[in-house]
Amino acid sequence: MKRKILGGTMNILFIVGSTRKASYNQIIANYLMDKHKDEYNIRQTDISEIPMFSEDIENQDWPMVDKAREDVEWADGVVIVTPENNYSVPAVLKNYLDWCSRKKRVYMNKPVMITGGSMGHWGTIRAQGHLRQILRSNGIKSVVVPGIEVYFPKVQDSIVDGKLLEEKAGSLNKNFDIFIEYLKKSNCD
Ligand SMILES: Cc1cc2nc3c(=O)[nH]c(=O)nc-3n(C[C@H](O)[C@H](O)[C@H](O)COP(=O)(O)O)c2cc1C
Repeated sequence: MKRKILGGTMNILFIVGSTRKASYNQIIANYLMDKHKDEYNIRQTDISEIPMFSEDIENQDWPMVDKAREDVEWADGVVIVTPENNYSVPAVLKNYLDWCSRKKRVYMNKPVMITGGSMGHWGTIRAQGHLRQILRSNGIKSVVVPGIEVYFPKVQDSIVDGKLLEEKAGSLNKNFDIFIEYLKKSNCD
């Protein structure tokens, strides 16, 4: 049964910071989206086709940017699942967030959960640190839901046949529940 929020069903948006076809981070996002598809309205924004941000082009007509911003407005909460590139967030994710920080600042006060996996020992801990900083910037000012820390170090060991192993999903599930509780409290109290 779909959970109600303010008389409707909760809307959860997923953003994946990798555009790789066999992306491990997409597989992690797929796990949550599939698990909760009957409880919440779920969407993912495709950030792969968003043009490289420049102030020279930002006032042109970019339907995919409009759609990306609408998706954030639609969402009660956003889950960002990202790998780590050279100790930071992938350029495609930063580019998407830069677009969302201009004109309509759609991330303002938006609750966000961060998670991600990388092939290294530290499992996106540095990228997630940078992402937290970006999400708190003046142009974005989202609410990174406190108390949520989920990392997938050596992510390749958590995935078999294109699926996240259930025994590796404990922390993800626990933290997603914390995120949902936060959304319910912030919208219903
Ligand atoms: C340009 C580049 C930089 C990378 N930098 C890091 C890094 O800093 N830390 C890390 O753990 N893995 C790093 N990796 C490896 C990624 O963790 C790995 O490619 C991962 O599978 C990417 O996520 P995806 O499967 O969702 O595409 C890097 C990979 C690329 C292509």
